[in-house]
Amino acid sequence: MCGIVGYVGARESQPVLLAGLARLEYRGYDSAGIAVVDDAGKIEMRKRAGKLAVLREDLEAHPMPDGHTGIGHTRWATHGGPTDENAHPHLADDDRLALIHNGIIENFSELKADLIAEGYTFRSETDSEVAAHLVGREYRATGDLRTAFRNVVNRLEGAFTLLAVHQDEPGVVVGARRNSPLVIGLGEGENFLGSDVAAFVEYTRSALAVGQDQIVAITPDAVEITDFAGNPAEAEPFEVSWDAAAAEKGGWSSFMAKEVSEEPEAVANTIRGRIHDGVISVPELEGMDDLFRDINRIIITACGTAAYAGQVGKYAIEQWTRVPVDVELAHEFRYRDPVIDEHTLIVSISQSGETMDTLMAVKYAREHGAKTLSICNTQGATIPRESDGVVYTHAGPEVAVASTKAFVAQITALQLFALHVGRVRGTVSAAEAAEHARELESLPAKISQVLENEQAHIEQLAHWMADTRSVLFLGRNVGFPIAMEGALKLKELAYIHAEGFAAGELKHGPIALIEPGQPVFVLVPSPRHSALLHSKVVSNIQEIRARGARVIVIAEEGDAAVLPFADEVLRIPLAEPLFEPILSVVPLHIFAMGLATAKGLDVDQPRNLAKSVTVE
Ligand code: F6R
Repeated sequence: MCGIVGYVGARESQPVLLAGLARLEYRGYDSAGIAVVDDAGKIEMRKRAGKLAVLREDLEAHPMPDGHTGIGHTRWATHGGPTDENAHPHLADDDRLALIHNGIIENFSELKADLIAEGYTFRSETDSEVAAHLVGREYRATGDLRTAFRNVVNRLEGAFTLLAVHQDEPGVVVGARRNSPLVIGLGEGENFLGSDVAAFVEYTRSALAVGQDQIVAITPDAVEITDFAGNPAEAEPFEVSWDAAAAEKGGWSSFMAKEVSEEPEAVANTIRGRIHDGVISVPELEGMDDLFRDINRIIITACGTAAYAGQVGKYAIEQWTRVPVDVELAHEFRYRDPVIDEHTLIVSISQSGETMDTLMAVKYAREHGAKTLSICNTQGATIPRESDGVVYTHAGPEVAVASTKAFVAQITALQLFALHVGRVRGTVSAAEAAEHARELESLPAKISQVLENEQAHIEQLAHWMADTRSVLFLGRNVGFPIAMEGALKLKELAYIHAEGFAAGELKHGPIALIEPGQPVFVLVPSPRHSALLHSKVVSNIQEIRARGARVIVIAEEGDAAVLPFADEVLRIPLAEPLFEPILSVVPLHIFAMGLATAKGLDVDQPRNLAKSVTVE
């Protein structure tokens, strides 16, 4: 939520800042702005409501002097609507200082009232401008940007990453973070700051993850880090494992189209190096075996799509480890009094590793004695750093706001985790683990098969259904979370009312929604694994069909029982039941993307959303 970038070095800063913002735009696209210290030693600033393209056009039509030090911001509005005035940067100290902010300053009203009483005037409705004036005031008093930051940060409550430049200190960008992300990119004679490494991966893959409550100052040749009290501090170094090309569209019509096409690779990369000749070995989990033997309960916590991955994971973990698993939405978790102790393992799932709700749930769990493991796609992110252990998904950078390839990678990582713990606890034999490992290894090719065989058919279907106003999704067992994922994708991408139901729940109420022509997707479990479950779903199909529903079935190849009752059949290859979701979700991702495209919508940046939700 909100992307920030900072640069200092020999290059002209505007192209670097704009390229960084383009890569961070998934974090918010209500407005964009940049500020540079120009070669005459003056702050130049430009900001515009709307997507980055609006700012770019403005800069092309009315170029702004450039310099070698600058900051840039792409906004997801919280306080104040998406207007030019509320866009960042915010100026202070007689327009000699520019500041950008990601997060929410919870006590901004009191601070603003004090500043107004002192005679300050505000040009925006944002909480962020308060920080700009406070830092500006401290700069006047101390003449040093680092000291000004130190004097301000402890007065701010809530979550923030702040970056600022001052025209009297050209060649320096100062930043601070609490509960919002900040990483440093280390270059030769240049340095970078960003909300994540995408901001600078084009220039360097050598990075430092700034810790909680740290202040950082970058110059072309140095990086200085202190804590909020001014004591020297260290940030954790890491190498970015992907290159800039991985975060480019590369000829695809959208990032989402590219990312759905990368679902096979996301699963393959998440497995890579973790299965050797049928033996599951997840290096990150080594050393945690005593913990896995000791736990008597697992709580998976996450939000949105990641939580649906968790719900699929619950089935695998319970089946293979016999440890009871609850799945909790992270934003609900800490607002009650959850029963957790040192025998509880909290498994958080987050693509970005920055989702504030999930981060707060992890912190709460640790404070209350539980052990924490994170499943995360982003190196150097806050949630894995705040956890006792991490299993990275290797889906590669996910830029489209709605999560797709990360979802299949998250399920894969949960399955690897479940098998590892099952082996440690002796609930899965070596032979069983080897069989499941083989199945996991076969999945990338099977996903490719779904893409090859069904993509065109599903896109055609989506095109026909472009005027549809409501779609329902039904599933049982592991198909239930997939039904909810299908509905979520359709809501957020195509702005169509959609609901995912447990198929058995239908008769307890939702069946009243069925009227002639109502499209319903049904995820049909394999009859090879449970004839009973399969027959129940086929009965559910008949019930809705009898009431006029238009039934689109997702069923395994060769399942003929569904044919008499289905208007459309989308086929997936045969798989073990716990692995089926990784295949059955693919048609639903294609469908939501196809329908949004048919409606002429922007599938990468749906309205009102941002990818990394760093506010609670
Ligand atoms: C939906 C979607 C969101 C995210 C959720 C959690 O397509 O992308 O529901 O899954 O905001 O985000 P992460 O995984 O970054 O914690």
